[in-house]
Amino acid sequence: MTIATTSTDRRWLTDPVESGPAAGFGVYLHVPFCHHRCGYCDFATAAVGDRAADDLDVLFRRYVAALTADLGRQVAAGRRVWAAAAGDVDDAWPWVTSVFVGGGTPSLLPADLLASIVAAVGQELDIASGAEVTVECNPEDGSEELFSTLAAAGVTRVSMGAQSFSPHVLTTLERGHTARRPLEAVLQARAGGIDAVSLDLIFGTPGESDTDWRDTLAQVLAAETDHVSAYALTIHDNTAFGRAVSSGRMPAPDDDVQRNRFEVVGELLGAAGFDHYELSNWALGAARRSVHNLLYWRHGDYLGVGVGAHGHASGRRWWSTRSTERYLDAVEAGASPIAGEEVLDDTQRAQERLLLGLRVREGLHPADLPPIDPLALEDALGVGLVEIACGRLRATRSGWFLLDDAVARLS
Ligand SMILES: C[S@@+](CC[C@H](N)C(=O)[O-])C[C@H]1O[C@@H](n2cnc3c(N)ncnc32)[C@H](O)[C@@H]1O
Ligand code: SF4
Repeated sequence: MTIATTSTDRRWLTDPVESGPAAGFGVYLHVPFCHHRCGYCDFATAAVGDRAADDLDVLFRRYVAALTADLGRQVAAGRRVWAAAAGDVDDAWPWVTSVFVGGGTPSLLPADLLASIVAAVGQELDIASGAEVTVECNPEDGSEELFSTLAAAGVTRVSMGAQSFSPHVLTTLERGHTARRPLEAVLQARAGGIDAVSLDLIFGTPGESDTDWRDTLAQVLAAETDHVSAYALTIHDNTAFGRAVSSGRMPAPDDDVQRNRFEVVGELLGAAGFDHYELSNWALGAARRSVHNLLYWRHGDYLGVGVGAHGHASGRRWWSTRSTERYLDAVEAGASPIAGEEVLDDTQRAQERLLLGLRVREGLHPADLPPIDPLALEDALGVGLVEIACGRLRATRSGWFLLDDAVARLS
């Protein structure tokens, strides 16, 4: 299909393909522990807040040893596959362009142990100069000491779940920090030597008013962070919120309210100079976009290490068990903790690339697009789901809410 039509557009066609290996290479490492499991969350994690400190220390050290061994196993297995394909072991691995230690709550681990996870990646793989190294932290764990230990270990970015600055919304969300705490933690991160700080927010929580949301955004702007992720509250069946909604004890989030909150966040962050570069993400300038998440959206390759972690390489996806006990038993016995894998066929890869690429404001370069029936494209353009800008295909702002529909029409 050809979508470039003007001479200005044509310059985009000289850009290289951005997906696959061209998108970079990442490593995700998962820490499956939290102080408390928030009622809305269905990530692979468990509450350990009420366990004795000594038990926790043993558990955490055991887990990090297993995580390191699993990383080594995945790298060794990958080297064999890549060497067979490339015929040269030394050239068989790309340099790591992003590392993301996520959870769960990585900041629940002692600082030295958390730093050792990042060091393990550097021991196994070559990390490119200027690579983004992110650690997820809960605001209540923040301290200048923690952040300076992480900075010394090579961490360049912190992602923190503030969720809301409204005390009653934080109570509903079962958060263990005060409304002020994220602001203090941002200052501590900067004082500890980490400049890039992202705040996660949730909007549309039952009981949250329009004023609560506007106040939350005002506080975010006062914190002077350079990146914001704002998510509509999603109700998952297998969570406390899911059970409360299905039994009528909690109202389901209202679609119109969520849409309105989404528009407000776009308006206020946009007015403050933030670039709305992905459906749920805003950055103060291109340099502050999340390199690791862009890798996912560009359908790049990454290792997924730890409980419930997913990896992807050239259309093959694999994931580890979501049970920490089974994960530890498998790795300690020298076995693989992988619980499943799938190989996407060309059609599935093209659909996934389209779905992920349309999430990003820049859309897709023509070289990354699967063949699209011109009539289907005309239809999707006609109903306003997608548009062509600078020779690239992207979702319109209203199409962002109907991505499945857009992909179905174009596939
Ligand atoms: C891996 S989680 C949490 C990181 C960290 N443990 C924290 O809570 O600060 C990443 C983010 O996903 C978002 N999130 C998790 N569950 C969600 C849900 N059900 N609806 C909307 N956002 C959700 C929250 O904003 C959260 O901070
Ligand atoms: S939102 Fe964060 S702190 Fe809460 S349960 Fe999920 S991972 Fe843990």
